[in-house]
Parts: sequence; structure tokens; C-alpha cells
Amino acid sequence: MSSNIAELEKRRAAARLGGGKKRIDAQHAKGRLTARERLDILLDEGSFEELDMYVEHNCVDFGMQDTKFMGDGVVTGSGTINGRLVFVFSQDFTVFGGSLSERHAQKICKVMDNAMKVGAPVIGLNDSGGARIQEGVASLGGYAEVFQRNVLASGVVPQISLIMGPCAGGAVYSPAMTDFIFMVKDSSYMFVTGPDVVKTVTNEVVTQEELGGAITHTTKSGVADVAFENDIEALLAARDFFDFLPENNRMPVPERPTADAWDRQEDSLDTLIPANANQPYDMHEVIRKTLDEGDFFEIQPAHAGNIIVGFGRIEGRTIGVVANQPTVLAGCLDIAASKKAGRFVRFCDAFDIPIITFVDVPGFLPGVSQEHNGIIKNGAKLLFAYAEATVPKITVITRKAYGGAYDVMASKHLRGDLNYAWPTAEIAVMGAKGAVEIIFRSDIGDPEKIAERTREYEDRFANPFVAASKGFIDEVIMPHSTRRRIALGLRKLRNKTLENPWKKHDNIPL
Ligand code: HXC
Repeated sequence: MSSNIAELEKRRAAARLGGGKKRIDAQHAKGRLTARERLDILLDEGSFEELDMYVEHNCVDFGMQDTKFMGDGVVTGSGTINGRLVFVFSQDFTVFGGSLSERHAQKICKVMDNAMKVGAPVIGLNDSGGARIQEGVASLGGYAEVFQRNVLASGVVPQISLIMGPCAGGAVYSPAMTDFIFMVKDSSYMFVTGPDVVKTVTNEVVTQEELGGAITHTTKSGVADVAFENDIEALLAARDFFDFLPENNRMPVPERPTADAWDRQEDSLDTLIPANANQPYDMHEVIRKTLDEGDFFEIQPAHAGNIIVGFGRIEGRTIGVVANQPTVLAGCLDIAASKKAGRFVRFCDAFDIPIITFVDVPGFLPGVSQEHNGIIKNGAKLLFAYAEATVPKITVITRKAYGGAYDVMASKHLRGDLNYAWPTAEIAVMGAKGAVEIIFRSDIGDPEKIAERTREYEDRFANPFVAASKGFIDEVIMPHSTRRRIALGLRKLRNKTLENPWKKHDNIPL
């Protein structure tokens, strides 16, 4: 018996060493943690239960039979985050660069299958050179098995990816199909093919950082959601973020006690909107002053800043926030903003998270580049997402709600449950200047007439009351009472049931 125990301890120790001390030191020298150190930070202390510690690869090509590491480059299992169950995998770069073999894939698939059986989220810590080259099609098959599970789990359990090293090939397509991607600055990369291949094929010279670093993907491409300074910051943020999410699509959102009064009045909001309609103000202020304790977890803060999306809580329960941001592009909807917010709305709808929409939007962004790059189809993504969403939807128009963008931003016509407007709201087909120049074109040569027509138009339309008189706005509310109104609305909508007609699935304009 004692020799069996000794053998077990020996194997466990070997497995814990991954690719060996030298490679662990190299990982540390790059400012990165090992796969196991990362799990220690992500999960509640002592909660991790490992599976498949002794799995080895089965490759016999290129002399691989002589080089085996227990665990085969990925640490898998389950644990808890603030007491709630989560399934995890953490790729070990010290073993064949964290590359994915057939067996490595099987380990990931096993935790994903377990997560689906019990309805718990999956968090993947990715640090992988992609398909294990020596295994050829076996590793490609392994990736496809993972991809298939990503898709089946989508909308059933939340899936979060942290990119914590150089990730190439299949190692980026699996995260791309998960719900959220966090990256680490200056140490994580995502690309389908690396700089060397890019140079060969297109003759472009580019660094790893420029091609697929955290800044590139959280600002330009929008592939990743948030960039963090280092592994520890990313992992701690993932813990905070996890607390907002339900375990699965049938469970209610988590609830946490809050000392913030549901009817807290925010008098400063009454004077937030500038007298000049062209002057911006920061919509973050409205969001933070509305949410419990001002706690807001923003998604994609550095990409498409003209729209703000993220999670917060009202009365301790998670809500999703979508808001136009007047300080960026005057809050116009463009391609990037529509894609960003459309995807967010769909996540909230899939997981029964109520959506609060703050509107100050002058319309869709005009321009040749927007048209040629498909603002029609891309703008329709957000419209489609709001229209199909059946979760509670509360909308507050703070200032402009013009044109098609009025329709899009969770309007009454798209089954908004409670549509509020501040007294400063202006709901019309377009701003006064543009409107007058079109409908009174013949007066354009006469500045006095135009000024009078503009005043007339503003008096008629630059207010919430025309829309309210038609029942498109349920109530014009004082800005200071926004939190109270939303809290009351959410209470009343808690048992909302609304079903879309049966269909296999819809055909969102991709
Ligand atoms: C086997 C790999 C590997 C891989 C890295 N290694 N990637 N082994 N298969 N895919 C091994 C290296 O041989 C090395 O082993 C160790 O991991 C560390 O790699 P380095 O190159 O020394 O590290 P670094 O300089 O940090 O560069 C990391 C890297 C680079 C950028 C990831 O290794 C790289 O470009 N790898 C190949 C990426 C790739 O093209 N993958 C295939 C994608 S195809 P030793 O023994 O020296 O420590 C794919 C298909 C899926 O994934 C299809 C999806 C649709």
C-alpha cells in the first residue's frame, strides 16, 4: 500500500511540474504565470478538483513517443468562484507550447461536457501555439471537437476566455466562439497566422504585438473585450466578472446584498444635460449614478466608444447596460458600435439579463466608408438583436433620439417594456437644422426665414411630448428619479414572459 501511495505522489509531483523547471522559469521570465498558478488565483482557495492529471499523448511520429508529459499540456477540472461552480481548463505553455493534441482536446471536451450536464460556466485560460503540429489531422480533429462544444454550449452556459500567452490557429477560434475574451497587455497575442507567415504571404512586416496584441484586439479589431496589465489583474477581474453572470440559461441572475437604497435620488442628474444640444456630456455619469454602488463592469471600453455596454446591478441583481456616448462621434451608431452592442444584447437575452438602455443618439453615422463597409447590414444587427430580445427592456431617453436610431435603441415599437424620457429628450426624424434644410429648401437663401422655421421645428419636436402623446413614451421622468424608476420597473417585470414564434433559429444579418 505504501509503495502505491508513493507511486501516486511521484506521479502527481511529475504532473505538477509540467514541462519542467527550466521551462517554468522561462515562463516566469516572460512575466507569465504557469497554468496551475493561474488556477490558484482564479478559483477559491482549495476549491480546485483536477481531472485527467495522468493523461498522455498518443503520438508516435517525429520521435514523440519518447517525449511525454503527464497532463499533456492542459490542466482541467472544476472549482468555485465566490462559492459558485465553474469548470476550467488552463493550457500549459511549458508542454509543447500548450499546443493541442488529440488527448489534450479530449480533456477540454470532458470538462465542457461536464459543465453542460450540470449547467455551469466554463472558463478557459488559453496559452497555446494551436494544433500540435506533430499530430497532424488528429489535433485538427481535436480542435473541431472543441469548436463543436463551444457552439452547443453557446447560449446555454456562459463561456469566458482569457488569452494569457501567444495563441495561434485553433487556439484563437475556440475563444472567438465564447462569450467574452480578456487579454493581457504585452504578453498575450491572438492571430490566425503569425508575423512570419504574414511576411511570406503578403510581404507585410509586423510585430506580434501590432498584429494581434491586447491593444490591437481591444481597440481596433474588437475581437477581445478587455485588456489587463498582467496575469494577476486579468484573473482577479475574471472573478469579479463571473459574479455578474448566471450559471446557465435557466437560472436566475445572481443576487448580492447591497447597502445602496433602491430609491436613492441623484439630484446632480437634473443639471447634467448641457443647454447647447451640440455639447457632449459623459454618459458614464448617468450609468454609474444609476447602478448599485456605482459598480459597472464595462465590456469593450476601448473599442467603439460611441456606445457603452457592460454589466451592473440594481437591487443586487445583474442588469446589462447599453448606452450611447455623446463624447465619442456625438453618440452616432456606426458599424463597430452596432456590432458591439448587438452581440451584447444577444448575450443578455440568451441569459435572461434585463437590458437598460440609455439613449442620446443623433442617428446612424453618415459617410462613404460606412456605406461601403456595410452599415446597412451591420446596423441591422443591433436592430435585430433588440427586436428579438424577450428579456425585460427599460429605456431612458436622456436627450436625442433621432431617426432610425430612435427605432433601434429599444424603442416602444421593438417591445420596450418601459420607455422613459427625461424632460430634455428630443425625439424626431432628425435635428432641426437638417430637417429645415430639407423641408423648406426653397427658403434656404433667406436666413431669417430659416431661423424662424428652425425655431418652429424645435418648439414642435425638440421635446419628449409628441412621442408621449402617442404612447411611445410611457412617462416623462425627472432625471434624479432614474434609479428609482428603473428599480420599480425591474421589480414589476420580474415575472415577464414573452415568447417569439417557433422557429429553428432566426437569420440575423451576419
Ligand atoms: C507543437 C509547438 C507548437 C505547435 C509551439 N510549440 N507551437 N509544438 N505544435 N503548434 C513548441 C515549440 O516547438 C517549443 O518547444 C515550445 O512550444 C515553445 O515555442 P517557442 O516557439 O519557443 O515559443 P515562442 O517564441 O514564445 O513562440 C510561440 C508561438 C510559436 C508564437 C506560439 O511557437 C509558433 O508560432 N508556433 C506555431 C503556431 C502555429 O502555426 N500553430 C499551428 C496553427 S494551425 P521546445 O521543445 O523548444 O520548448 C491550427 C489549426 C487549427 O491551429 C485550425 C482551426 C480552424
